[in-house]
Amino acid sequence: MGLFGKDETGSVQLDRALLPRHVAIIMDGNGRWAQKRGMPRSFGHKAGVEALRGIIRHSDDLGIEALTIYAFSTENWKRSAEEVGALMGLLLEYFTRELDELHRKNVCIRILGDIGDMPKGLERQQQALYAAMEKTRANTGLKLNIALNYGGRQEIVRAARMLARKVQAGEIGVDDIDMAHFEAELYTADLPEVDFMIRTSGEIRLSNFLLYQLAYAEFYQTDVLWPDFDENAYDEALLAYTKRNRRFGGV
Ligand code: FPP
Repeated sequence: MGLFGKDETGSVQLDRALLPRHVAIIMDGNGRWAQKRGMPRSFGHKAGVEALRGIIRHSDDLGIEALTIYAFSTENWKRSAEEVGALMGLLLEYFTRELDELHRKNVCIRILGDIGDMPKGLERQQQALYAAMEKTRANTGLKLNIALNYGGRQEIVRAARMLARKVQAGEIGVDDIDMAHFEAELYTADLPEVDFMIRTSGEIRLSNFLLYQLAYAEFYQTDVLWPDFDENAYDEALLAYTKRNRRFGGV
């Protein structure tokens, strides 16, 4: 066996020095996974939370610095009330049940998205999200970023608005605005660059996810549906990343 690859048992051996610092994931295919089993879509989301648990644990074990997952987009409110309700229920359950363990593991939670602007009736979810961020704020382990009520375009427009306010207040001049200023206004401020973006379930599109941040990320797509995306599937994806030749516009 070389530096990395599969060993005689078929399991993937990763060269940790080559792993991405920051992984982003679009966890797609929960609905289809459930439909294939003749079950409601919410059953797929429940299974999706289980898959997410495994991926967070494995990211932590591998020493990955930041993991950003797309849990709920600004467009997902268009889904049926039943499905939105199920997702919001899972979210509350997740943050109520898992917070202590994540905190013990030194995980630092950040929510990307506008949690102040969620529909009425979701106050308990809002409180749980603020509490999770507050409790884990000073943690120095895995940076777990959960995109929720998130849209990439909305994030960029929000950053522009914040900068405009700073100009208006005389804090900076228009010509001083550079990428560093702009990035400081994004939800991802101070996180490492996103190196690797995984989308499950065979779809090949961005769906308004991290539009600014993915500029030089390596993309990976797999036909595996999210609830089936286990540690081995993740290792396969990471192995593919370690073999990529990143050029950042150079040769
Ligand atoms: C996409 O599958 C998945 C989502 C829109 C939701 C992802 C959310 C979770 C896995 C759980 C919630 C997160 C936390 C942090 C508890 P889809 O429903 O679009 O699947 P389909 O394309 O097969 O219909």
